[in-house]
Amino acid sequence: MAEAQAGVVIVGAGPAGLVLGNLLLDRGVDCVILERRSRAAVEGRARAGFLAAHSVRVLTENGLAAGLLARGRTHTTCRFRSERGEFTLDYAGLGRGEVHTVYPQQELVRDLVAEFLRRGGDLRFGAEAADVTDGRVRVRDGADATGRYATGRYVTGRYVAGCDGHRGVGRAALTAQGVPTARWDHGVSWLAVLAAAPPSMPATGYALHERGFAGHMARTATVTRYYLQCPRGTDPADWSEDRIWTELATRMRTAEFGPLREGAVLEKTVVDLRSDVLESPGTGRLWLAGDAAGLISPSAAKGANLAVLQAESLARAFEAALLRGDESGLARYAADCLPRVWRAHEFSHWMSGLLHGPADAGDIDRDEARYGRALQYARLESLRTSRRHQDFFAENYTGV
Ligand code: APR
Repeated sequence: MAEAQAGVVIVGAGPAGLVLGNLLLDRGVDCVILERRSRAAVEGRARAGFLAAHSVRVLTENGLAAGLLARGRTHTTCRFRSERGEFTLDYAGLGRGEVHTVYPQQELVRDLVAEFLRRGGDLRFGAEAADVTDGRVRVRDGADATGRYATGRYVTGRYVAGCDGHRGVGRAALTAQGVPTARWDHGVSWLAVLAAAPPSMPATGYALHERGFAGHMARTATVTRYYLQCPRGTDPADWSEDRIWTELATRMRTAEFGPLREGAVLEKTVVDLRSDVLESPGTGRLWLAGDAAGLISPSAAKGANLAVLQAESLARAFEAALLRGDESGLARYAADCLPRVWRAHEFSHWMSGLLHGPADAGDIDRDEARYGRALQYARLESLRTSRRHQDFFAENYTGV
């Protein structure tokens, strides 16, 4: 039986793969998306929710923003709390005057899947790529009813886009070819909590505390995300609802600033804050976008935005290569994206230093712990008092 063929085989139906697929269809480039999980699993995964102005622009210009424009919420402020009080930055009036659109990622994914299928796209759920070699993707799980992408079969593309996350086969194939990775472990973890509770403040709140960072991210009128810095290796099962709300109240200093609106905990997971960037996100027939090309710690909510940025750039490059035989866009892909990717990493890294005190006070020499905390407060003070710093912060906080 002949192998399935496509101009671009996209591995992974996360934000990167779905934006890329939609843009390719729109430009008349044929593609197929292989996704190892089921549609329900992909559409039900609650993750990020912060869209930068650039991402909203790309999605709007490409007819992918109806849902987020109708149901997304605009965030224009963020708030910082510490033992030294509280201040709010109204970033809509700072920097470039850009804002965030908050739209739960699973809803964006749902919209992107629906639009891809509406455009006539070929999207195979339950089809796991086992490996990729020279434009050929070997499929492991052929749950797909047509049998076209059955186990052990190959799907061949003129190009393969690895949009399959940081543990995917796309990245593995490139690193096996010797592409180096720059890597950083921020040394801290977050207990990420999704609560069926209305937000307790207008938008985002960051609390610095000697017990560790706590964050509040408004999502919808009825759902709020909270973060609690926790030691590496924490088991989410050790955090009961009671313990979560008590710890949040302490770190968010509710005695001073007013209570949190509590609700049932819908989800709790532990995220280790790590970042990495592949020094070259593609070569020949294999190109990566999103987490596959680099993982960014969640401290500044840049992950999904970098995925959109890279997907847009890659779509343009594939279009030129496949429709006009011009591979110069692919040759420039790394040079186009990496400087912006690194700026996002730099900001995210700074933000991580602002939010987190010494990771595990017990393990750290006390002088170092003191130094770390003093730096944290110097950063916070600079942000509170310097208009220039606020402008710089706003530009980086909302941009990619
Ligand atoms: N074969 C097929 N699909 C795969 C394979 C494989 N071997 N490996 C992974 N996948 C799928 C996953 O099931 C997932 O749906 O690839 C998809 C990757 O999606 P994401 O992990 O969402 O990655 P990406 O699209 O790069 O999203 C970028 O969104 O939520 C943020 O923090 C997240 O920064 C990340 C960003």
